[in-house]
Amino acid sequence: MRLQDKVAIITGAGTGIGEAIAHKFAREGALLVLAGLPADPVADVAQAIARAGGRAEAYCGDLADEPQARACVDLALRKFGALDVLVSNAGIFIANAETDAYRIEDFDRTIRSNIRTAFLMSKFALPHLRASRGNIIFTGSEAGLNGSPGFTPYGGSKGFLHAFMKGVALEQAPYGVRANCVCPGPIDTAWTRGADSPIGPAEQASIDAMVPLGRRGTPEEIANIFAFLASDEASYVTGALWLADGGVTPAKSDIGARVGAELRRAPDGALTLRHTHDGLRGKEVYRARS
Ligand SMILES: NC(=O)c1ccc[n+]([C@@H]2O[C@H](COP(=O)([O-])OP(=O)(O)OC[C@H]3O[C@@H](n4cnc5c(N)ncnc54)[C@H](O)[C@@H]3O)[C@@H](O)[C@H]2O)c1
Repeated sequence: MRLQDKVAIITGAGTGIGEAIAHKFAREGALLVLAGLPADPVADVAQAIARAGGRAEAYCGDLADEPQARACVDLALRKFGALDVLVSNAGIFIANAETDAYRIEDFDRTIRSNIRTAFLMSKFALPHLRASRGNIIFTGSEAGLNGSPGFTPYGGSKGFLHAFMKGVALEQAPYGVRANCVCPGPIDTAWTRGADSPIGPAEQASIDAMVPLGRRGTPEEIANIFAFLASDEASYVTGALWLADGGVTPAKSDIGARVGAELRRAPDGALTLRHTHDGLRGKEVYRARS
């Protein structure tokens, strides 16, 4: 197992990609602290992992709040005595409006959950990661490279994370700490499918055609990359933006529309996930465009 007895904190672990990372890390032998907002099903994910023979503690709190972020890191130390990996994955995608119509409160919420959480968790985790020669993996986005019309602050928040990660990687290399960023394209979570998404039904229907591989990625396909980057197998990887976007970044046309039905089938996967589309439950979502 690639993460045997490694202690990892995963933020945003109750739903979507974070839930998949939690199950994947558990299968690889990691000891986990699963963090999310109070309404997130992190306890449910922790229980599912425990039933399968793994070890996971749930932590509920707003990680953009200094005492709560600090308490999350403290929990890992208290329960497991060390910290080897921080997966900084928490984030929100809660508005769809052109920049002039984008509500200031939505901009502030986006910066808070996407940037401040990552900064605070990194700040509090780093002394312990230095002790273990551990690593941080952030969830960036192809939107952080390419920009994101209709969601400009979201793309900007991910661009921040990409540059922040590179700075951390260079700064912490002398201490033996690695930092990397996984940059997904459209993944099949509440953000790109279903009534909770800020993306309207017509736009949702055209997503797959914009992806050269002709489909959204699955949370498990993204979790697989986190497991590799977190492990000692990635010992020479730091400061990297790891694209997993189905080819969206270099795409120049609707190549995905030409992909046949058989090739569009997502892999079956090995993980049992229950909260893939629950990430936006109870969150206020603003749609100026449908
Ligand atoms: N789904 C996509 O298409 C996609 C594409 C690129 C990048 N991403 C990134 O992947 C990550 C996970 O997204 P997802 O699609 O799984 O969505 P999701 O909504 O299922 O997961 C995000 C989780 O983070 C939690 N969270 C948000 N703010 C928090 C805070 N302040 N404190 C604690 N927890 C908080 C949410 O409640 C939620 O459970 C995000 O960082 C997102 O930017 C997603």
